[in-house]
Amino acid sequence: MRIDIVTIFPGYFDTLELSLLGKAKDRGLLDVRVHDLRGFAHDRHRTVDDTPTGGGAGMVMKPEPWGAALDAILLSAQEAEPGVFDAEPDNGSQAPLIIFPSPAGEVFSQSMARELAAERHLVFGCGRYEGIDQRVVDEYSAGGRVRLISLGDYVLNGGEVATLAMIEAIGRLLPGVVGNPESLVEESHEDGLLEYPSFTKPATWRGRDVPPVLLSGNHAAIAAWRQQQRIDRTRAVRPELLPPED
Ligand code: ADE
Repeated sequence: MRIDIVTIFPGYFDTLELSLLGKAKDRGLLDVRVHDLRGFAHDRHRTVDDTPTGGGAGMVMKPEPWGAALDAILLSAQEAEPGVFDAEPDNGSQAPLIIFPSPAGEVFSQSMARELAAERHLVFGCGRYEGIDQRVVDEYSAGGRVRLISLGDYVLNGGEVATLAMIEAIGRLLPGVVGNPESLVEESHEDGLLEYPSFTKPATWRGRDVPPVLLSGNHAAIAAWRQQQRIDRTRAVRPELLPPED
């Protein structure tokens, strides 16, 4: 998968060199390209923001640098793979999907991560301040593929942390990124329930014993205990995830 990121803080994405995603990059499973938005601002001060039209607090990101950055990325995608722009945007197109992280977007979830993991090319546009001039979203939505996605119902200072979180959730679902694919199956949210609690050695720590069933060697009993733990945990902290009871 190719991922382009447009940001005024490229340094945020240094952490993509670490851990599983760093290995995935080294192995060519993930091709991540980070672009400094200021490199597409052509005035002397490389200005990327201005005051909100109509008044109000804060600053808004100017459309021109965004247009230049996104055009350059889309052009390079088209040059690399001319066929990807062939289909219509809402009809199986494999053209790049542009994601603007935004508290005003659809809420990100595990099922959305799965959907996005099937894309060939994601472009993340990280807004700052009070957001990006709306005409940028409108321009690339007309004839292109754009989604506004929120990490959750709280406000971050910009899209960078949300982009990192999404890339981690999506990247680990790509074939070959997580060494043992079975570990993806029993996780929280994969089938709508939270994960069961995990234990390792020693069998007793600070007077706390591992649940005896886990030491029984009875695989059916262990599986039943884990499933019950998942249901109990989900009922206790996220009851809205459980199917409605008749
Ligand atoms: N930018 C600011 N807040 C955000 C959020 N909750 N999700 C995604 N992007 C954001």
